[in-house]
Amino acid sequence: MSTYPSPPDADRFEVFVDGLRGGAIRGLNVTIPFKEVALSIADTVSERARKAAAANLLTFELDGRVTADNTDGVGLLGALAAQAPGFDPTAGPVAVLGAGGAARGAVAALLTAGTPQVRVINRTLAKAEAVAGAVGAGAVACPLDAADQALQGVTAVINATSAGLSGQPGLNVPLDVTPETAVVMDMVYKPLETPFLSEARRLGRRTVDGLEMLIRQAAPSFETFYGAVAPSEPDVRALALKALGQ
Ligand code: ATR
Repeated sequence: MSTYPSPPDADRFEVFVDGLRGGAIRGLNVTIPFKEVALSIADTVSERARKAAAANLLTFELDGRVTADNTDGVGLLGALAAQAPGFDPTAGPVAVLGAGGAARGAVAALLTAGTPQVRVINRTLAKAEAVAGAVGAGAVACPLDAADQALQGVTAVINATSAGLSGQPGLNVPLDVTPETAVVMDMVYKPLETPFLSEARRLGRRTVDGLEMLIRQAAPSFETFYGAVAPSEPDVRALALKALGQ
């Protein structure tokens, strides 16, 4: 793959979006590092995008307005339902590792889905506290070096850090203290099986991968763009796995 001449630029993204006002195209699916600026550009913001403090879907209205939405929560919960059938987000506390944009979106989506407590575990405690404070009641901040306590009794652990991305060392988290029934999910999809998920599998935990979340966050965007449910054929996961070389 070719490299970009310069890093992605938020100002240029805004100019790009402005040029699409008025409905030249129906919308855009947005990914990092533009999810925050996408939210700030929009004239109308959905409740779930506001709670996540990020937008991954922009829609262009014919009158020039831009609407921002966030379907990452749909993707997260859809991936859990698909790969950990029977998982109930309301059944008990869930741990989210990380305190960046991805983590905040996950915490907000879980609280909206009725998770009674979300434990935001992060290497930098102040960032976990900021996320917990921003999403409101139900979230608590925990330092990564006390994860052995914070992971006790959870129904699921979700890695929303960038650790484990291709070429980076994985997270060193004591997954063995989680209940045997806990579901372990990684938002990273490259590699598909991160060291974090390998460890979970070794311990016999059910696992959920980031590719399933990626595919499932895209389905509502498809519906917005085409006014129809995303077709089950072709098999998007098989195509994505091929593209990822898996
Ligand atoms: P994004 O917005 O995509 O979520 P980010 O804002 O860069 O990305 O956040 C990355 C997260 O991964 C942070 O929570 C970071 O922890 P810190 O806040 O302490 O920096 C976490 N992270 C990245 N690499 C990590 C590692 N090796 N060990 C633990 N946490 C890591």
